[in-house]
Amino acid sequence: MTTTRMRPTAAPAMEQLPTPTLRTSREIQGNVLAAFNKDYMAFRYMRFPEDKAKGRGWLSVILNSVSVTADVEDFNEEFSLARRAYGHDPAKQATWVGVSLTFPGLLSVAADSEQVLREDLKNFPQLLNGAAASAAKLSDTGASDPKNWLFGSPSTMVHAVLLVASDSPEALEAKLQNIKAADEAHDMTLVHQDDGQTLPGKLKGHEHFGYKDGISQPGVKEFHREEPTKPGFRENRPGAKLIEPGEFVFGYKTEPNSKNRTGPAWMKNGSLQVVRRMSQDVQGWRDAVAKQAAKFVPELDATQLGACLVGRHLDGTPLATPTDRLKGLGGDANDFDYADDADGGQTPCAAHIRRTNPRKASPNIPVDSNRIMRRGIPYGPVLEDDPKADRGLMFVCYGTSFEEQFEFVQAIWSNNPRFTPGETGAPNCIDKVTGPDGGGEIALDPPRGPKATISMAQCVTTKGSLYAFTPSITTLRHL
Ligand code: HEM
Repeated sequence: MTTTRMRPTAAPAMEQLPTPTLRTSREIQGNVLAAFNKDYMAFRYMRFPEDKAKGRGWLSVILNSVSVTADVEDFNEEFSLARRAYGHDPAKQATWVGVSLTFPGLLSVAADSEQVLREDLKNFPQLLNGAAASAAKLSDTGASDPKNWLFGSPSTMVHAVLLVASDSPEALEAKLQNIKAADEAHDMTLVHQDDGQTLPGKLKGHEHFGYKDGISQPGVKEFHREEPTKPGFRENRPGAKLIEPGEFVFGYKTEPNSKNRTGPAWMKNGSLQVVRRMSQDVQGWRDAVAKQAAKFVPELDATQLGACLVGRHLDGTPLATPTDRLKGLGGDANDFDYADDADGGQTPCAAHIRRTNPRKASPNIPVDSNRIMRRGIPYGPVLEDDPKADRGLMFVCYGTSFEEQFEFVQAIWSNNPRFTPGETGAPNCIDKVTGPDGGGEIALDPPRGPKATISMAQCVTTKGSLYAFTPSITTLRHL
């Protein structure tokens, strides 16, 4: 990347660049707005060699495989249309690739000086400083301390993260063979690889504690539709307002008064990415939930308390009552808010989904900001297959602000005992799915329903974390 490449002399301001429609964008990488949605996903954490030309050479080879929003969205739409019409077609397959760069990674391939890049990124201190610098703020301490991370700490420095996703282990391996040849030809170092895989059998689509995952996502203006207009168009989740695309991709502003998280022109059509390896102590979770359930008067069973801590039952059905019963029933129900549940009697304030997306809970909580686009996949075998193995969730999310999105959700909402996603004084408890040791009060159907003060050790440990930038295709080409 030369100064002129990265920063054309007559660079138009970000707002003046032509705006492709989001659904047909060949500029925005796949997975940011259109999920890869594959059963197998490799996460390859790479380090560039000192020779910048080699790093750029590797990127230009990888660029040939990088997927774009239009292709991923078309595939997903065709896939769901065909499935609805004819059932699952195993021949309909695709392999997707995405690439992101950390700040040290950008420095390793950019022609711009460090000073220039730091100035460009001055509004993104978390990208400049890396995920490890936010560890204390996010309660990544003790076993989650960056010194124990497999990637992303200063001693396990990563420059580029490659996501390779496919429908079968064979197709994934075939793509990885090509990529490994490019790595070797350009002296790239593999720091670590994580292998994500959906859980087998009936647990497909569930995470390791057993709950259905990947249900609620923000709907994006000009990408999702308010209501499905014809079959196959993925509807915006009912009950939620469509969110500004600029919350997830740089350079978009559809309402004059909306926030414009802007950066230099080369960030247009790019996004900020968080990757976290979150190890789940499944036996620890089951034991702790059973023990805490016994504290309630009258006693709760463990399944009930588990649902209270997540906010959904194992099959995804929410504890909250859907606004539109016809649309809302079942494990994918998402048409609800907490406006009529200010005291958390139905969905406790401790519930992971209430703390991470408080919806309409009280007038003081802004309901449509601080949303994240989640793209996780489990890793490791189920507990019953290999009790000693490490297992958990490869958590991935996209946005345009670490501060106001991922870090806000984790530190200000999930882990923070002073935040109550309900009325002031409602029984309150930190998020026990991801939060640190501790607890708080849970009361169902107050004043007469079961209640208890619970206290549980942390069952999720961070084993690696990265903050990266997912560039547009044009920016990748110019590197
Ligand atoms: C939703 C599990 C980590 C943010 C969910 C759901 C489950 C779940 C079962 C409900 C299904 C759904 O709505 O898609 C987990 C597990 C985690 C984890 C097991 C770690 C091992 C995180 C982290 C964050 C997060 C680190 C962000 C800081 C969210 C959000 C939702 C959600 C925003 C959707 C809430 C809604 O809109 O109703 N998670 N999660 N999760 N999670 Fe997590």
